[in-house]
Amino acid sequence: MHLITLKNWSESDILETIENCLKIKNYPEKYRHAAGGLSLALLFQKTSTRTRCAGEIGIVQLGGHAHYLDWRTTNFGLADLGDEIRVLSAYVDITLARFLKHDDICKSGTASSVPIINGCCDRYHPTQAIGDLMTIKEHLGELEGIKVCFIGVHNNVCNSLIAAGMKVGLEVTVIAPEINPAAVDKELWSEAAQKGCYKPVSTDSIDSTIELQEVIAQNDVVYTDTWIDMEFFTDPDFAEERERRMKKMMPYQLNRTLLKGLDCKIMHCLPAHRGYEIAGELLDDPRAIIFEQSENRLHSMKAIILKLLGRS
Ligand code: CP
Ligand code: NVA
Repeated sequence: MHLITLKNWSESDILETIENCLKIKNYPEKYRHAAGGLSLALLFQKTSTRTRCAGEIGIVQLGGHAHYLDWRTTNFGLADLGDEIRVLSAYVDITLARFLKHDDICKSGTASSVPIINGCCDRYHPTQAIGDLMTIKEHLGELEGIKVCFIGVHNNVCNSLIAAGMKVGLEVTVIAPEINPAAVDKELWSEAAQKGCYKPVSTDSIDSTIELQEVIAQNDVVYTDTWIDMEFFTDPDFAEERERRMKKMMPYQLNRTLLKGLDCKIMHCLPAHRGYEIAGELLDDPRAIIFEQSENRLHSMKAIILKLLGRS
């Protein structure tokens, strides 16, 4: 079993994993030898703080070993991806990979003889969504019927929130005047919409901050993420597009004015681009659960690793 996308994880796969995330957080000492002697490879084409550290530190706290591979210092770039993954999977028990392209994580899943965890590609970010659901359950007590408003650019994080959410009855309203082209997944959106778990709001129908507030006010959680994925953020070839997006997206920035008087939890997967998708002041707002959410990446990564190793 892999975790490439949550689309093929069942409701019970997700719910049991969330329960285990909470147990691991509350009783870490019970899991000190849960992955004793097993090895996790981390293969990253992109930068990372949370996902890398959650995997690397998580496996060690479970009694296993971590082996971080920087893409540029391996021969992955020279050779056939499937060949290299096949070799790596003969050395380790599980791999956490962050690739630029979704197709490459799929190819790796086919070639690997051990479980592959998608540590974020251009279409999905499933480990983030497991940590997010854990955080929602921890702070709101349940998942079914909880209303989450994702506001920003519809991206990998938004897709995984929808994919996980629709299995457990979360209702995700999306206010996104832009969609990342690689994140388009009509099959996912249509299935989730039919279940009442994905509600896209046309931004043409929102003319003012008050109307935006009215939509957000109907939710228990408001969630945002970067308007530009990390690989493009400082790319000079993307500079013009970056400026265009910044201008267009600024009315959708989460800030104290937009959220004035609203009683909803504030989430962000981090890294935050303060002054863009979120005003810096909101990271320490009493409604924000952003740093708890980011701490939960460690506990939830451990639960994911144990599930895929068959050691839950
Ligand atoms: N949220 C998240 O995946 O962060 P990193 O990119 O730092 O891993
Ligand atoms: N959408 C962001 C997520 C970062 C965790 C990106 O892909 O850069």
